[in-house]
Amino acid sequence: MDYRNILAEVLVPEDKLQARIKELGLTISQDYAGQDLLLLCILRGGVMFLCDLMRQITIPHAIDFMAISSYGAGARKSLGQVRITLDLNQSIEGRHVLVVEDIVDTGHTIGAVLELLEARRPASLKVCTLLDKSERREVVVPLHYVGFDIPNKFVFGYGLDLDELYRNLPFIGVVKPEVYLKPE
Ligand code: PRP
Repeated sequence: MDYRNILAEVLVPEDKLQARIKELGLTISQDYAGQDLLLLCILRGGVMFLCDLMRQITIPHAIDFMAISSYGAGARKSLGQVRITLDLNQSIEGRHVLVVEDIVDTGHTIGAVLELLEARRPASLKVCTLLDKSERREVVVPLHYVGFDIPNKFVFGYGLDLDELYRNLPFIGVVKPEVYLKPE
């Protein structure tokens, strides 16, 4: 279906997204100057953000990817209910790791990821998320770099999917309620 049938409003337009990503890239470049920086992207939603963010980071850095899946009740993710389905192929011991996420919602995913990574003894471990849906937070998680604090709306585009589609859109949109409230 054409995304225009799903889109209620554009929440963050492309120019604002890119301007903020440029600022984040500059700040990260200054903060990690001279350090062994590894950007760690959590698949799949973080991919678009990673690609644009790394183009704005002016210091040498490596990238890697992790994928996790959650089990337990519904879509709820909590400690002990997250399984790594794709792991890093390098050690992070002694390295400065910056986890790159598209969105932090309840915080369960990033909370579990941080706990897993902390055990591998990185020199530092921080989080950069494009979107922070802070109203929905259920667990306290440290967010060091945040693109936008957004309201509790069902968003899609720019890495975020609706039934696995529309991740390619260059903006963050809000889904029309009738799309996700429609009966099966
Ligand atoms: C999304 C997003 C975060 C997580 C945030 O991933 O990319 O990883 O949910 O939610 P939380 O804070 O409530 O845990 P999702 O599981 O939808 O997978 P995807 O990245 O493959 O779309």
